[in-house]
Amino acid sequence: MSWSWEEEVGDLGEGQDDPAELALTLDGLQLLRQIHYFREIDSTSRWLLQLVESATSSKALDGILVIADYQTAGKGRFGRPWLAPRGKALLFSLVLRAHSPAPLADDYNLRLISLLAPVAVALALRNVAGVAASIKFPNDIMVGPRKCAGILVERSAKYPDLFILGIGINVNQSKEELPPQTHVEPTSLFCETGMLLNRWAVLRGVLEELEAWWGKRSLDEIVNKLNELCTTLGRRVLVKTATGDVEGLAVGISPNGGLLVRADHGAVTEILSGDVKELQSGYE
Ligand code: BTN
Repeated sequence: MSWSWEEEVGDLGEGQDDPAELALTLDGLQLLRQIHYFREIDSTSRWLLQLVESATSSKALDGILVIADYQTAGKGRFGRPWLAPRGKALLFSLVLRAHSPAPLADDYNLRLISLLAPVAVALALRNVAGVAASIKFPNDIMVGPRKCAGILVERSAKYPDLFILGIGINVNQSKEELPPQTHVEPTSLFCETGMLLNRWAVLRGVLEELEAWWGKRSLDEIVNKLNELCTTLGRRVLVKTATGDVEGLAVGISPNGGLLVRADHGAVTEILSGDVKELQSGYE
């Protein structure tokens, strides 16, 4: 495994995790090929997408990890910005490569990665921070009714077997440092536990889970875990999909990894991607 600094590290702000410890903390992870650390970047996912698009082959790109202390143009889902103050959140992106090169039309790997990532993050936050992390379908990581992490999966247009997995976890932000509320109220691990955490330890926890679940490559097992961790189930939802809105009761995750929504007239729709609004939070 190799690693690089984007610039001289210089003085660290008070309470910041030392980037020099990053490679040490991540040592031994089979998933990783290279680590790139930036004090500041526009977006770790954009940087990796550019790297992938300018490569001459899709080989030797999987396992490249980019971490930044601060993003000037962090991207969230649906074109939303992803905001975090310097040095307080865990902001990283990782290239994963599908095992059997899949044609563009085959979304199996996209689904696999989109589902295993929230499972890995939720399990890691349970283990490392001791919070009761759960999943709001498809990939918001929640603690109770508030969101503490988000996941953005992007696919390279040039190499459809490469995926950029971008993860943002609110780790040490105080309540005042959290981004403004969007579709859900934000939180951080610090707000939930009262403890400041080493961000690299959280990162290691997430990468260990990703390594384990990516190694299994079993959609069935991931769907089973998702059915356990997904708090959207049993709630009334309104889902905005490319083909229109679907409203009803979320009753399960299908073997394909879709959300099953039962409308009032009884018909069940399988939704593979969409923006899910929970109409009852379950925490009233
Ligand atoms: C969401 O909207 O919930 C997804 C947020 C994903 C944010 C992460 S932070 C690291 C990576 N770089 C980005 O620009 N976005 C992702």
